[in-house]
Amino acid sequence: MAFFKAKENTADGVDFQRLPRHIAIIMDGNGRWAKRRGLPRTAGHAAGAETFRTIATYCRDIGLDYLTVYAFSTENWKRPAQEVSAIMGLLKKYLLEAVAKMERDRVKMEFFGDLSPLSPELRELCQRTREISRRYEGCQVNICLNYGGRDELTRAARAYARDCVEGRADPEHLTDSQFGGYLFSKGVPDPDLIIRPSGELRLSNFLLWQSAYAEFYFTDVLWPDFSKQELHRAIAAYQSRSRRFGGV
Ligand code: FPP
Repeated sequence: MAFFKAKENTADGVDFQRLPRHIAIIMDGNGRWAKRRGLPRTAGHAAGAETFRTIATYCRDIGLDYLTVYAFSTENWKRPAQEVSAIMGLLKKYLLEAVAKMERDRVKMEFFGDLSPLSPELRELCQRTREISRRYEGCQVNICLNYGGRDELTRAARAYARDCVEGRADPEHLTDSQFGGYLFSKGVPDPDLIIRPSGELRLSNFLLWQSAYAEFYFTDVLWPDFSKQELHRAIAAYQSRSRRFGGV
């Protein structure tokens, strides 16, 4: 809680001493937010990127350990080229700013997904932010970029099969935690809370393996309108639930 003032130990029913360790968010509703205002969809993504900045900074401030966001899925390439390039442009802008402020913010950045189809410039930026921030120990922000849960599992199965064929692994002794080591999320604890704004009630290929015991929070609020208060509501709902992990 290095950045958080002690007087704010609770707000909107949230107990900041009992935060989930890892929150994951499907940043949905940018297009509808823009449409309602008669704006192009890209304006919705720009507003969504601002919301991401606000929420990521706030998560760091309250002492959250991990925040994972779904920024671009393996299926999002089907969108019009101009929209895809606008999202890539926003990511580039965000990463350039993040690099410039890195020593001050000390947020650790990771990327889940196959970065190879991205532009060399964006790939290099991802690599640079990842490397510079590797030594930071505060909040870790994972940006899912060209990410799909099924793609992640297929890649993991392929890599594991390769290890078996080449004698580095024995299928008789595979445990789920070992298999987790083949995923993009290797070393990151599973999300405790998954938030999906915009009224959609589905997972959309997000963190399929890692969501096994996650608590879900859905809200009709569109991502660009998602505020700290909305985050408080989600965390308070999470804190009111009893997690049993299959036990009693
Ligand atoms: C889903 O809303 C949103 C996306 C596919 C893109 C998310 C991208 C950003 C928030 C900007 C860049 C991110 C970072 C991390 C700087 P939608 O377009 O499907 O909305 P709709 O369902 O209302 O059409």
